[in-house]
Amino acid sequence: MSALLQLRNVEKRFGGLQAVKDVTLDVEPGEIVGLIGPNGAGKTTLFSCIAGFHRITKGSIVFDGREIGNRPAFEVCRAGVARTFQVVKPFARMTALQSVMVGSFLRHRDAASARRAALDVLARLRMEHLADVEAHSLTLVLKKRLEVARALATEPRLLLLDEVMAGLSPGEVPELLDVIRAINAGGVTVLFVEHIMAAVMNIAHRVVVLHGGELLADGTPAEVSRDPQVIAAYLGEEYAAGA
Ligand SMILES: Nc1ncnc2c1ncn2[C@@H]1O[C@H](COP(=O)(O)OP(=O)(O)OP(=O)(O)O)[C@@H](O)[C@H]1O
Ligand SMILES: [Mg+2]
Repeated sequence: MSALLQLRNVEKRFGGLQAVKDVTLDVEPGEIVGLIGPNGAGKTTLFSCIAGFHRITKGSIVFDGREIGNRPAFEVCRAGVARTFQVVKPFARMTALQSVMVGSFLRHRDAASARRAALDVLARLRMEHLADVEAHSLTLVLKKRLEVARALATEPRLLLLDEVMAGLSPGEVPELLDVIRAINAGGVTVLFVEHIMAAVMNIAHRVVVLHGGELLADGTPAEVSRDPQVIAAYLGEEYAAGA
């Protein structure tokens, strides 16, 4: 089976700054892949390159056999890639349901069918009781969950999640992990950025480490958490001792 997402020698420069350097990575259909690394490693930038929000300066990004590198975001989304934003920006004066419908309209032409699809997505995110609440009045944690709903409503085959668990209390993490597992079980491949290591180790089939824009490691959660380079660059000795 060929990879769903194939990055080849991807580079992103911002002027003199090389935020992503020569990244080559495959994501197979059905995988849940965790992308970790220190602040400023280039994780969000890599997501933005995949999703068509940044132009890449070198390399190629193939999704489902088609080059999507440097294609506009709406086209990448239509091809089946959806992303959430690390910094949430809910639409002003829209309810949660209306915000999700913005995503559903990609695949549903009439409002009634977009509404039904959006309600279904809200239920999958366990947010159906919040459908009529104004999005901007939700807590940060629920705004992040709404981001996931909005992305999922575009019916992606690949979902890119950027720190959707940040700010959750330890008790709130398992529920969102269950939601993500259920999304994956429904046939959606997941690539996610997360700093909460317990969550990464719990849900990822494979973990990829970025450091200074470069791919430092790629392996199972157990392999990566034992890798001396990863411990030195990101996890720290304390984590290694406790792992
Ligand atoms: N639009 C931009 N213009 C210029 N530099 C940028 C831009 N976006 C990101 N950078 C720089 O690129 C580097 C990678 O940033 P990025 O946000 O991708 O890191 P990250 O791994 O997501 O970090 P964090 O864990 O803090 O979210 C940083 O040095 C950042 O300052
Ligand atoms: Mg980031």
